[in-house]
Amino acid sequence: MMESKKEDVRRKHIRLHMEGALTARDKVGVQDFVLLDAYTSESAFVDNLRKRFNENLIYTYIGTLLVSVNPYQELGIYTVSQMELYQGVNFFELPPHVYAIADNAYRMMCSELNNHFILISGESGAGKTEASKKILQYFAVTCPMTQSLQIARDRLLLSNPVLEAFGNARTLRNDNSSRFGKYMDIQFDFQGIPVGGHIISYLIEKSRVVYQNQGERNFHIFYQLLAGGEEERLAFLGLERDPQLYKYLSQGHCAKESSINDKNDWKTVSNAFSVIDFTEADLENLFGIIASVLHLGNICFEEDDQGCATIPDTHEIKWIAKLLGVHPAVLLEALTHRKIEAKTEEVICPLTLELSVYARDAMAKAVYGRTFTWLVNKINSSLVNKDFTRKTVIGLLDIYGFEVFDKNGFEQFCINYCNEKLQQLLIERTLKAEQAEYEMEGIEWEPIKYFNNKIICDLVEERHKGIISILDEECIRPGPATDLSFLEKLEEKVGTHAHFETRKLAGPKGRKRIGWMEFRLLHYAGEVTYCTKGFLEKNNDLLYRHLKEVLCKSKNVILRECFLLAELENRRRPPTVGTQFKNSLSSLLEILISKEPSYIRCIKPNDRKEPSKFDDFLIRHQIKYLGLMEHLRVRRAGFAYRRKYEHFLQRYKSLCPDTWPHWHGPPAEGVERLINYIGYKPEEYKLGKTKIFIRFPRTLFATEDALEFCKHQLVARIQATYKSCLGRKEYVKKRQAAIKLEAHWRGALARKAIQRRKWAVRIIRKFIKGFISRNKPLCPDNEEFIVFVRKNYILNLRYHLPKTVLDKSWLRPPGILENMQQKVVTSEIFRGRKDGYTESLNQPFANSRINEGDINPKVLQLISHEKIQYGVPVIKYDRKGFKARQRQLILTQKAAYVVELAKIKQKIEYSALKGVSTSNLRDGILVIHVSPDDKQKGDAVLQCGHMFEAVTKLVMLVKKENIVNIVQGSLQFFISPGKEGTIVFDTGPEEQIYKNKNGQLTVVSVRRKS
Ligand SMILES: Nc1ncnc2c1ncn2[C@@H]1O[C@H](COP(=O)(O)OP(=O)(O)O)[C@@H](O)[C@H]1O
Ligand SMILES: [Mg+2]
Repeated sequence: MMESKKEDVRRKHIRLHMEGALTARDKVGVQDFVLLDAYTSESAFVDNLRKRFNENLIYTYIGTLLVSVNPYQELGIYTVSQMELYQGVNFFELPPHVYAIADNAYRMMCSELNNHFILISGESGAGKTEASKKILQYFAVTCPMTQSLQIARDRLLLSNPVLEAFGNARTLRNDNSSRFGKYMDIQFDFQGIPVGGHIISYLIEKSRVVYQNQGERNFHIFYQLLAGGEEERLAFLGLERDPQLYKYLSQGHCAKESSINDKNDWKTVSNAFSVIDFTEADLENLFGIIASVLHLGNICFEEDDQGCATIPDTHEIKWIAKLLGVHPAVLLEALTHRKIEAKTEEVICPLTLELSVYARDAMAKAVYGRTFTWLVNKINSSLVNKDFTRKTVIGLLDIYGFEVFDKNGFEQFCINYCNEKLQQLLIERTLKAEQAEYEMEGIEWEPIKYFNNKIICDLVEERHKGIISILDEECIRPGPATDLSFLEKLEEKVGTHAHFETRKLAGPKGRKRIGWMEFRLLHYAGEVTYCTKGFLEKNNDLLYRHLKEVLCKSKNVILRECFLLAELENRRRPPTVGTQFKNSLSSLLEILISKEPSYIRCIKPNDRKEPSKFDDFLIRHQIKYLGLMEHLRVRRAGFAYRRKYEHFLQRYKSLCPDTWPHWHGPPAEGVERLINYIGYKPEEYKLGKTKIFIRFPRTLFATEDALEFCKHQLVARIQATYKSCLGRKEYVKKRQAAIKLEAHWRGALARKAIQRRKWAVRIIRKFIKGFISRNKPLCPDNEEFIVFVRKNYILNLRYHLPKTVLDKSWLRPPGILENMQQKVVTSEIFRGRKDGYTESLNQPFANSRINEGDINPKVLQLISHEKIQYGVPVIKYDRKGFKARQRQLILTQKAAYVVELAKIKQKIEYSALKGVSTSNLRDGILVIHVSPDDKQKGDAVLQCGHMFEAVTKLVMLVKKENIVNIVQGSLQFFISPGKEGTIVFDTGPEEQIYKNKNGQLTVVSVRRKS
């Protein structure tokens, strides 16, 4: 259920999409005319051509024939990368291109080791010569190459500019119009390397040498020589730079043409000459001939009294004589006289002015024409490959297409005859190829109707009966033969031919359109009316014997090669131009027949050499005369499209689930499965041995559209997979990052926790240690604990303040803080009265400064009935001599003892204690006064490191606070009854205690600011 629904949706999509693709096709047309549905419609043909031309697509196929429309602009489609693109690619895989044609021929030649030719035809200016150059360049760039063969390649390439300089001219249609037909063989060795070449030229337009129409020029080389030639060369040739000075160059009134750069072209040509083996002597001779043609043109004839031609000014004659190496007088005579051979003797008779001019022009034409032939031969000898291994060739035929002008003469007749022959070849080869293919593929041959133009060829060329034979006959006929008598002969001999018409023979309807001097041929391409005027003369192409003799004796080596003495000795008439052309054409066809053909048909889009101008009328005309419709009809008669199974399958396999993505069986079966799946009808196709044949273009288009749609789906799928892959990668990356972050964060937290614990342990430990050692003298162990207890106590005080002023009961401090109370007492006694008090404040009082263990056990025993309250080491000064002695001062509940080791030296009962004296200075002296009446020894003079502490403890034990006396200067003390001592207090730079001269104890303290 699901599946069929999906399939429905798919089909719908295909249909939808098909319309989209068809719109695109509407825009750029089909790239192969064979795929045109209305293949018999000329309008459809023109439409397709126009659509493509408007998109700058100048190339379109008819099967394997390439139609090319001259873009008249640089399109950037001839780059090296384009060449590489077309290299070795299946012909139909890429858009049509002249490179595809070239590459196809080359590949076939390499793989099948056979010969090929590419026939390029079209009107003048349609792009034939450009196309042939593009092909040559393509081979030059893409073919394999060895160092040693580069020179052969360069010569092939450079033969072109030389030939063009001598054989091309500016015409109204084309600034660089080839005025000769050219067939060029490119020879390849077994590795496919271009190694040599051969050129055959046809029918150079000699008449141009002596006459040009308005707006046209003579052959380029004349202008190039004048514009670019070195001063010495021109001087040597007797030439001036200005082309206007030469009659042969100035008749067209466009000797100077801005679009042509003769000077630059001269450089190119000079360079080419050096590459293709021209010696300086060759060039001297060659340009001698070119210059003498110019001089010839400037010869002026005059008429004498007898009506004979004379040459009054022999200036030009001298130059010609010098340049051609002939005798001036002989030349002069030959130009003005004619030798007539009677039976045994020669008679020389003068020529009329008109005939002299004719003779001069004939000489110019003959000289130029034969020199051109010599040039071609010379180039050929430089292109020749001297190695005699087997070679294959690709021939390039760049030949004028059908020409139909308002007035058509002998030249058009020849050209159109040539095209008629080539058309015959084309149709035959195409048909033959079609038939051969059907046969090979085992498909039944379906006869194709086509127009066989043999009948027209015969009309022109048949021996004794054809037009050329009749013309020749008329030329040699004794008696007055004229163009008109020739026309009459034609009417007489071929008048009944279905493809021949004259004014006389045409019915009343046709009559008006044919002139009295004209005949009309119904060519395969259409009708052409020829004017017989000049037919005889042109066919004869007569050069007077007299002039020929002069030229045969020339010292100019080139001329001597061109005009052989043998020619003079041969008494037979030379073949006429028509016959020569017929013969060369038949040998050309022989050359072509043995080779595999490719065709390029060139069309020019307008008459003004303008880009992007598509002149429908002009193009229809060309389509007709190029025989394109006929060709298409023959190609399309059977099947529009055929392709090898492999290729077909490869392209469309994604359309069928069985063949996608891989088909492992034979391709033919795969194709069958495929077309069954997409629903081809039996009449739409045939299956051959190696190819599928599709009859209608629409079948192919539907397949192509389906593929287009399918591609989108495939792309979407690929994209989705790719995106999910990317997403997953991203996710994994993020996840890993998160895990890492978490791990680090946890680690940080744990480290923090352990830090806290360690800290807590340290604090607790410290607290415990502080607690244990709370009663010890202040030390790092208990310092903090005591601070803590103190702080706690003070904070606690705020809840236990006395209720009334009278209430003296303060909260009792903890044990270790009892000395707080003592400090209060100390303050009451000493604050502001004794130096050092302030510093003493932050020194906590100890319970005792002597451990019980340090007190001698005997002493302990002696006072065992009293509890020791405080002990401190002191220095005791003897009352008389003030000798200092180490003692311990021990305070109990009842008395103070001065102890020396195991002896109690003095016991002072508190009841006998009279007071305590200290100084106001920074000394540690304290004097304990006793009552004299008691049996006491006298006052004790002590020095104590903990003076404030000791005094405070004593006072508190005695419980009399006002017993402390702080003296200034000195104090008296009781030594023994009636005897007193004095202690003097003083300040000085250092602490000292000594007995002065007066027998007084002097205590010096250091005065410090406090
Ligand atoms: N493929 C092309 N791209 C650009 N310009 C071209 C092309 N083919 C021809 N032309 C232009 O048209 C002119 C005439 O072409 P050419 O080949 O000499 O014509 P033909 O040999 O058919 O008389 C060229 O000089 C060139 O300016
Ligand atoms: Mg050309």
